[in-house]
Amino acid sequence: MLADTLTIVDNRTGKKYEVPIRYGTYPKYGAAIPTSELRKIKVSDDDFGLLSYDPGYTNTESCRSAITFIDGEKGILRYRGYSIEELAEKSSFLEVAYLILNGELPAHSQLNDWNHNITHHTLIHENIKKFMEGFHHDAHPMGILISTVAALSTFYPKASQIGDGELRQKQIQRLIAKMPTIAAFAYRHRFGLPYSYPDNDLSYTGNFLSMLFKMTEVKYEPNPILERAMDVLFILHADHEQNCSTSAMRGVGSSLPDPYVCVAAAAAALYGPLHGGANEQVLRMLREIGSKDNVPEYIKRVKAGEFRLMGFGHRVYKNYDPRARILREMAPKVFEVTGKNPLLDIAIDLERVALEDDYFVERKLYPNVDFYSGIIYQAMGFPVEVFPVLFAIPRTVGWLSQWQEFLEDPDRRIARPRQLYTGSDARGYIPIDKRK
Ligand code: CMC
Repeated sequence: MLADTLTIVDNRTGKKYEVPIRYGTYPKYGAAIPTSELRKIKVSDDDFGLLSYDPGYTNTESCRSAITFIDGEKGILRYRGYSIEELAEKSSFLEVAYLILNGELPAHSQLNDWNHNITHHTLIHENIKKFMEGFHHDAHPMGILISTVAALSTFYPKASQIGDGELRQKQIQRLIAKMPTIAAFAYRHRFGLPYSYPDNDLSYTGNFLSMLFKMTEVKYEPNPILERAMDVLFILHADHEQNCSTSAMRGVGSSLPDPYVCVAAAAAALYGPLHGGANEQVLRMLREIGSKDNVPEYIKRVKAGEFRLMGFGHRVYKNYDPRARILREMAPKVFEVTGKNPLLDIAIDLERVALEDDYFVERKLYPNVDFYSGIIYQAMGFPVEVFPVLFAIPRTVGWLSQWQEFLEDPDRRIARPRQLYTGSDARGYIPIDKRK
């Protein structure tokens, strides 16, 4: 019978080692070896043992997780086993949030309670509002969001009791409820507009649109198509397994601080142009290209290595990102309300030219979620600086459920990778007057 082990022969010593192979729920979803086993491979007794070298963790499983499944080769994304296509069509963001956090779709009463709890935690303390007023008028909304979420930690000192399940749930609900309020206030701060308080009669995304765009009207009525589009965008961004910001959430969470500072750290990781800042870069890129006629020349420069095609490529997807496909199909519906974003034609042409080009085909570079999200957000009236904030709101659900899962994992340990040392060997201190 074949064994679920791997035999390694160390050619330095001729010794043979047998390493166990571990599977996830199903062998077809991948197998891995516990790399700590490699430490047994030594050339001598005082040898430290073999380590694995994997910058960027391209081939390392950092945890076990039952939340999100991605098959990057086939372009599949599922939350708790449900396909992203089905959830985007049939569910709502808050229902998906419940599913991601709890593992199952809610019954009627559970969903009502959940919606009620989130809706009734949307207000923020007036002192947080004052804190936000201290930012410079042109402060980037993402900088405001990150700092303000971290500041929430000081308003809820009991949040540090992360071992208390009930208190933990309270912080989770607070964070999911307050992120849109902070994000909307950060947006209005930039334009010198008075903050618009939450309206509990509206849906999660309807209320968010109200806090963003309400002017002098007594009651803001969100356009149902835009409200639904926002809901779908939030569903698509809710979780994406062990990406950079989620790894930051787990990594920071591994030293056991409260969830507010963990979410602030995760949001900081999201801010970068290679992660949540990419859709902002896509818009800048499309504006720079300016016209379909300039697409071939731009692609030439990408291939020459001058810069990357933003919104293209993914560490995991080596096929069309399923989220990008949903957004590409949704865009015309949004444009019926907002008017067409002229950048869409450039984007579609850019995608066509890239997908016919050997450079992109060979490297399996396809549009990712950021390629179309920015075009939709811009048509809805969002300035580019707000895009990463729009990503952070729904991803808070993913961060918190991954954090919760991490805390309950018996394999949990503080994140502390090793290094391959490449510096000087031991040497003596040289007094300053003897140095060259
Ligand atoms: N344009 C041109 N070439 C690219 C691109 C791109 N967007 N992405 C990767 N490549 C090339 C890269 O130059 C390399 O070529 P070579 O083998 O000749 O050196 C090859 O493809 C592999 O690239 P890599 O950098 O090893 O891939 P990675 O897995 O480390 O990076 C990525 C993934 C998303 C950072 C990268 O594809 C990228 O920079 N894309 C543009 C930024 C972007 O759209 N980010 C959003 C990601 S999706 C939303 C999210 O989850 O945050």
